[in-house]
Amino acid sequence: MMQNQSDQSRMDRIVSLAKRRGFIFQSSEIYGGLNGFWDYGPLGVALKRNLKEAWWQDMVAGHDELATPAGAPEPYEMTGLDCTIIMHPQVWKCSGHFDLFHDWMIDCRDSKRRYRFDHLHGRWAAHRGKRVFVVTDQSGDDALPHTVTRAQKFFGVRANKIEEIEWGGGLEPLAEAVKGGRALLADALGPDAAAPGTLTEPREFNLMFETRIGALAGDDDDRAFLRPETAQGIFVNFKNVVDTSRVRVPFGIGQVGKSFRNEITPRNFTFRSREFEQMEIEFFCKPADSAAWYRYWRDRRWKWYLDLGLTAGRLQLREHAADELSHYSVGTADIEYAFPFLAEGEFGELEGIAHRGDFDLRSHMEGKLVRRDGGLVVETGADGKPRHRGSGKDLSYFDDISRERYVPHVIEPSAGADRAVLAFLCDAYHEDEVPDEDGKPRSRTVLKLHPRLAPVKAAILPLVKKDGMPEVAIDLYRRLKPHMACQYDEKGSVGRRYARQDEAGTPWCLTIDGQTLADRTVTLRDRDSLVQSRVPLDEVVDLLRDRL
Ligand code: GAP
Repeated sequence: MMQNQSDQSRMDRIVSLAKRRGFIFQSSEIYGGLNGFWDYGPLGVALKRNLKEAWWQDMVAGHDELATPAGAPEPYEMTGLDCTIIMHPQVWKCSGHFDLFHDWMIDCRDSKRRYRFDHLHGRWAAHRGKRVFVVTDQSGDDALPHTVTRAQKFFGVRANKIEEIEWGGGLEPLAEAVKGGRALLADALGPDAAAPGTLTEPREFNLMFETRIGALAGDDDDRAFLRPETAQGIFVNFKNVVDTSRVRVPFGIGQVGKSFRNEITPRNFTFRSREFEQMEIEFFCKPADSAAWYRYWRDRRWKWYLDLGLTAGRLQLREHAADELSHYSVGTADIEYAFPFLAEGEFGELEGIAHRGDFDLRSHMEGKLVRRDGGLVVETGADGKPRHRGSGKDLSYFDDISRERYVPHVIEPSAGADRAVLAFLCDAYHEDEVPDEDGKPRSRTVLKLHPRLAPVKAAILPLVKKDGMPEVAIDLYRRLKPHMACQYDEKGSVGRRYARQDEAGTPWCLTIDGQTLADRTVTLRDRDSLVQSRVPLDEVVDLLRDRL
């Protein structure tokens, strides 16, 4: 059954399980934490590694370049890179991040809080001749009730007199209300302010984290940035890869690594973090074939999430409308998930698949490009020279079979590892009832993670700590461990041990009991179906390897 998608309390329980069972902790928690930064605990690191390894295996390492995958126009090659987080500052000037990678922020002089301008909504409220534009930073179902509470407090109205407040219209984005002249910032009551008129004019804020290179750093030339995406490392190495490996267009380069964005308002657990990991592919193809490759990657990436078990009804593939597209782009699609912290009907982006044309390779070759008259031209300054100089290196590709030279077009499937982990955690989280050892129903929390993603694949449990059972269990543990992550657990009742493994998402529990000693079979318990079957002890390793 589909759960209520605006179920904040469900989200709270997921966050609490993530902390309690060591999936995700707040960074630097003993010092009060750091907003927008998260650490992965013992179970979390295993889950995230499994996810990244599944991506790398399915997209890069395990790719068969001799076959034509379903939906692909032809066979293609895949290779990988691992680039630095700090790159030459010119990279970000030519990529457009230096000039354009910003959000609008707004400050409150009263509460000293900072908000993203596009996250604020508001509506008019009036009471006994006083009018105010009540602004909220809440989203989804929480926004409207928040404006009611704020107006009630501001006007000093009791809960039983709430209907005395008159509302003028529905909620609308603050930016639109201000732009359309329907509200002034002077009339706006900030989300945490005591009186109207404390919100500042919106200001641009570049999202790149800045740092300095070298001990004597001082002038502007030493300014460097932590990468806000892994993609640029791939573009600037395009020529290196073509020159040093035998890849031929079409081919893709994958990279998994950290990215940093100084988000104004990190929120929703790990969903919007300031430090996060991306799994990106830049796929280089002939311009004429790019539309077909775009469709291939969009469908391929969509299927990947389904194959790893995300519920189809909570996933959405959203094609951008024609007016959302860059003029060089024939398509952009987002793969989105209905996270429980969002209101009913809302989805959050997991991955974007973008047709980037030749924008990136040409920018790094010629200098930062801008759109003009339906084409891309180098942006120039007042002196007529390029605003941001490119590398001047030839990043075109020569096809020695067709004897053609061209700048390849790029299809970019760009996924966030942390957002994917969060989606898989939310999707896997279930609360149900199972019979305990005496057959009585007991409520349980279980993570129904795909076995490839599960941090622990199997738990080996001697029924009691005597009669030779631990010895048999330890022997099985040692035979299984080289093949998969498994745990030996002899502490507590077997029911409690099952419960611990259910919460960790372990798909299989193997119990060594009295019958094992008699006939060398063990009980194999399946986490999801709860079916318990007897399996010959000597076949367990092969059986579980096959299932994985
Ligand atoms: N190279 C293209 C690019 O970076 P993006 O849509 O800005 O595109 C790609 O980012 C993916 O990276 C997103 O779909 C999301 O999964 C992840 N991502 C972006 N910003 C994030 C943030 N602040 N916290 C966590 N993940 C983020």
